[in-house]
Amino acid sequence: MGHKDLRDWLKTVENRGQLKQVSGAGWELEMGGIVEVAYREGKEPKPCFLFDDIPGYPKGYRTLFGMLGATERIAMTLGLPEDRIDRLGIADNWYKKARDLRPIPPKWVDSGPVQENTLIGDQIDVLKFPVPRFHELDRNRYFGTAHSVIQRDPDDGWVNLGTYRVMVVDRNRLALHATPGKHGNILTYEKYFARGKVMPIAIATGLDPVLWWLSCQTDTPWGASEYDAAGGIKGGPIEVIKGPHTGLPIPAHAEIVIEGECHPGEFVDEGPFGEWHGYYANRGLATVPEPVIRVKAIYHRNNPILTCSQPGVPPHTFTLMLAVADSVAIRRRLEAFGIPGIQSVWAHYTGSGGLFNVISIKQMYSGHAKQVGLIASQYSAEMGSYTVVVEEDIDPSNLDQVLWAMVTRSRLDRAIQILPDCHTNNVHPAIPPAEKRSTQKGKPLTAARVVIDACRDLSWKDDWYPISRISPELRKEIMEKWKTVLSGLL
Ligand SMILES: Cc1cc2nc3c(=O)[nH]c(=O)nc-3n(C[C@H](O)[C@H](O)[C@H](O)COP(=O)(O)O)c2cc1C
Repeated sequence: MGHKDLRDWLKTVENRGQLKQVSGAGWELEMGGIVEVAYREGKEPKPCFLFDDIPGYPKGYRTLFGMLGATERIAMTLGLPEDRIDRLGIADNWYKKARDLRPIPPKWVDSGPVQENTLIGDQIDVLKFPVPRFHELDRNRYFGTAHSVIQRDPDDGWVNLGTYRVMVVDRNRLALHATPGKHGNILTYEKYFARGKVMPIAIATGLDPVLWWLSCQTDTPWGASEYDAAGGIKGGPIEVIKGPHTGLPIPAHAEIVIEGECHPGEFVDEGPFGEWHGYYANRGLATVPEPVIRVKAIYHRNNPILTCSQPGVPPHTFTLMLAVADSVAIRRRLEAFGIPGIQSVWAHYTGSGGLFNVISIKQMYSGHAKQVGLIASQYSAEMGSYTVVVEEDIDPSNLDQVLWAMVTRSRLDRAIQILPDCHTNNVHPAIPPAEKRSTQKGKPLTAARVVIDACRDLSWKDDWYPISRISPELRKEIMEKWKTVLSGLL
């Protein structure tokens, strides 16, 4: 289906007028700064930024930001119908596609374009590529911000792909930051380090955006591979090469792949790094020990493209894509529980945490809204969150409508549940550093989650106050008759 690799995909983006090519911006704060201003302050649709002629690097050694930063590009990438490219329309179409997806395992091939250049031994230098430093308070440059980290479960053999940031330590060492609860963290600590085993690892960047999309979201469960899901989306297998050093399947069409290994007990100071929610919250400006990746080989295409994400105060390059992905993942989980009446879901502007999720339902029985809220509240693998349940006349992606329901439809003493001591981790900006340090002494962090039932009470349904809003029929009539007055205003 569609594109065969990132370069092919970029041609389509360019033909659609959504590629902004920039010449001469530097890796030190400049590329990231341009992207941040455009994404926080700029007009829709937000473009994809391709940087070339980066000072200190050969022409053709490029970076790419904002791959999936616009609904049109999400639809085009995932092969969704492009009739509805509003936010809920994309979420609806992705929901249908994800629900009906049949996984297709990757196909082993002997060679691929990623092998055009191989660097081993003394040739290894991760700074051969124009790796950005993103924000003023970041200490280091980050090679991995729009990539996949590839690891294998040594017991069951399945292969995980996840986007966990990767910091440059020096020319042949990187640091891996996968937070507790993430598959990459569980594999590292439980499956390798706890048994004293060396972990083979690969980092692939400049991927087919379908693979990247899947690496960033939580819908692929433990034990299932994002490779298979990507094959399902594309309608054909992803081609992989057996990594010579790790035996891991590496994407044959990636721009750059690094193979390496992590040794138990080998840690290095990681961060500080400005994160997706807009704070340096891991430990403020202090560093935190994270596993070292010893680089064993680098493979890259000629004129490679390093893909990047600029995190920071939302909105930024990946808030939209994760809002779509989280919205659908929450809806699918509720339905997996057998809950009826789910109309739509929107996970607001919160990066990858799903921190303010709104679910609209058609209420069918007493306690329905609370049941939905309690189940959905456990979705986030990151930190505390709000879950708001509204009725079917409310568009969950429209905060004005959601607030209207919250402030008018329920009695607050009955509407708000605070669930203490739920899962969280050290990414939470409201937990002070001292409390986070205590996790190292074996005391896990927890945080509250809040569920707000913003639905009218079913027990007096027959007496609900009428709503003063023009009916859909009257609206249609007015739109037809007063077209000339309203066109241009709407
Ligand atoms: C640009 C970007 C950067 C991310 N960085 C990290 C990170 O550094 N550490 C982390 O644990 N999760 C990070 N995430 C979130 C994970 O990629 C996401 O939770 C994913 O579902 C993890 O895969 P898993 O479910 O297989 O563990 C990032 C997501 C995006 C989109």
